[in-house]
Amino acid sequence: MSQAPAAAPGSGFDARQLRRDFPILATEVYGKPLTYLDNAASSQRPAQVIDAVAHYERHLHANVHRGVHYLSQQATDAYEGARDRVQAFVNASSRQEIIFTRGTTEAINLVAASLGQALGPDDEILITWLEHHSNIVPWQLACQRSGATLKVAPLLDDGSVDLLAFERLLTERTRIVAISHISNALGTINPVETMVDLAQQAGAKTLIDGAQAVPHQRIDVSALNCDFYAFSGHKMYAPTGIGVLYGRAELLEEMPPYQGGGEMIRTVSFTDTTFNALPYKFEAGTPNISGAVGLGASIDYLNNLDYALLEAHETDLLEYAQAQLLELPGAKIIGTAQRKASVMSFTLGDIHAHDLGTIVDREGVAIRTGHHCAMPVMERFAVPATARASFAFYNLREDVDRLMAGLTQALEIFT
Ligand code: ALA
Repeated sequence: MSQAPAAAPGSGFDARQLRRDFPILATEVYGKPLTYLDNAASSQRPAQVIDAVAHYERHLHANVHRGVHYLSQQATDAYEGARDRVQAFVNASSRQEIIFTRGTTEAINLVAASLGQALGPDDEILITWLEHHSNIVPWQLACQRSGATLKVAPLLDDGSVDLLAFERLLTERTRIVAISHISNALGTINPVETMVDLAQQAGAKTLIDGAQAVPHQRIDVSALNCDFYAFSGHKMYAPTGIGVLYGRAELLEEMPPYQGGGEMIRTVSFTDTTFNALPYKFEAGTPNISGAVGLGASIDYLNNLDYALLEAHETDLLEYAQAQLLELPGAKIIGTAQRKASVMSFTLGDIHAHDLGTIVDREGVAIRTGHHCAMPVMERFAVPATARASFAFYNLREDVDRLMAGLTQALEIFT
């Protein structure tokens, strides 16, 4: 097997320098350097994010929007400052359109529960076969509550959505189209611009699950022209438990609240409650203030990176990894769409994915194995599970080499 040069040739992206910002990447596991290739499940945090959260916790914490005292105002400024950063980061037209949630899953549940109240038995929701469970189950529940029908656009053999079938499944009954931007299980990049256009021509509302896209490419919700865009902090170098729902203001205005409680109200009596203005109408209870601060810090960090170089570096890693993998006997890549990002899902002969994961783990290599919360994708490709290496900008070709060394050991053990 060919050996990697120290860095991706000609990438112009100093991943080796940037990875020094991530303290956990210096960890050793089982006496070996950590090779972290499970970024689609959760990415790591740079010191800048860790420090911003620690500074908030040490010096600024109080509840937000509730106090006239100094700390409450400091905490409110920090929390609302994070909202401003998110608005600019995704190019939303107003800060009212940025709702903090626990993550992508809660953001999608919010839309399914709230917008879903307007659904009836004649209505249809269209998703694709590529979806993560979090973009399937909330819609199934909405269908159960309303009598609406869930339709699923099939996949081609390369793991891309069959766009002709997608178009055929759009009818005058389609109310909501919910699609992933990038598949967590296969890495397929969906042509979301085209899909949103088609959905709008059919008169449907559109939601994009952007959990896997936000760490890898610049997102512009205004250019995408979608109605909703959901993503998570922890996949974009921020803490867990914080995420975002972008929603078009005029739709959010019309939608009923998702959860009731403090902060989302204007007035409450035992006979009548009036609701707060956007975005607070959808933020019941004390929010994850330090998480939002961490998300704001991760956006500051990402804003200092050149995304064109970042994408070129990540593309190089994926292409290098796929080429190396295919040199191994019995290796098969699941998901070979032309447009892919940072995910290599694969099988190796008859070796079970969990055995692969366990063997490479002893070499310090972290990958995910299993169904990746996308059981229908596994069913479509007739595999019980895959092994999945997923890349971040701080990965190097050496990380791929270590994975390949671990997989070679697995082959020696099992053949
Ligand atoms: N959605 C996460 C993954 O793909 C958990 O691993």
